[in-house]
Amino acid sequence: MRRYVIKLGGSVITDKDEPLSINIPTLLGIGEEIAAAMRKTDLSLAIVHGGGSYGHPSVRECLDREGVIDESCYVRTTYLMSELSLMVTQVLIAAGIPAITLSTRSVCAVKSGRPDCELGIAAEMVGRGLVPVLFGDGVLSDDGYKVISGDDIVWLLAKAMGDAEVVFVTDVDGIFDKDPRKSPDARLIREISASEALGFVGGSGKTDVTGGMRSKLVKGLKHARGWGRAYVVNGSRRWNLFNLLTGKPFIGTVVWYR
Ligand code: IPE
Repeated sequence: MRRYVIKLGGSVITDKDEPLSINIPTLLGIGEEIAAAMRKTDLSLAIVHGGGSYGHPSVRECLDREGVIDESCYVRTTYLMSELSLMVTQVLIAAGIPAITLSTRSVCAVKSGRPDCELGIAAEMVGRGLVPVLFGDGVLSDDGYKVISGDDIVWLLAKAMGDAEVVFVTDVDGIFDKDPRKSPDARLIREISASEALGFVGGSGKTDVTGGMRSKLVKGLKHARGWGRAYVVNGSRRWNLFNLLTGKPFIGTVVWYR
């Protein structure tokens, strides 16, 4: 049985330049491919989605104004993330995926600067063939309110599922040796270790409060050094995610966390 935690990046499921906008056509395509892969092969799946144009601008606004996430910012951000997650889950259920939304703030907190989650229920859902859907979220911390990125939760879930692999569904084809938006001769790297990949990738845009591709590498090294394996693929490339999930050749980068 293949086990995957699929991270749907905020830049794939929303339009990051347009506040509160969901990228419905892409999401429908992703739902269709995951459902088809589940029918075709035995898969244990959990899904985590990002905040995109729901979560990031809301947190960015209060960080710029107050320097911290205050109570009203926490209330607004968590509300918006639940709204986004309901819509994501609705599309997944309509595609035929037994998706259950689980709010991250109910199962995780930040303690001494680290995410601390209770994922037993999520793992039990996976064991029953259900697909829990978690998301980057505002959470309680011993120092006010913080954001836990989906890029952290994926590894904690992967561990709870018994060293599952992580699939980062992003808006790029993978990790390149140069920035493909600036250099037309950039080459897609097919397989690389996370520490080596750090030499190739930059951060993310200024509204992103949790750090883009670089943080996918750094967070993975923090949580999954020695056992982690991830794939970076493009969510807009039709049937590519299906191919990956069903063991067929796909376009993307395999990342080892060692
Ligand atoms: C961010 O989660 C959540 C909030 C800003 C509340 P992620 O870090 O997983 O989001 P994306 O994928 O970068 O949008």
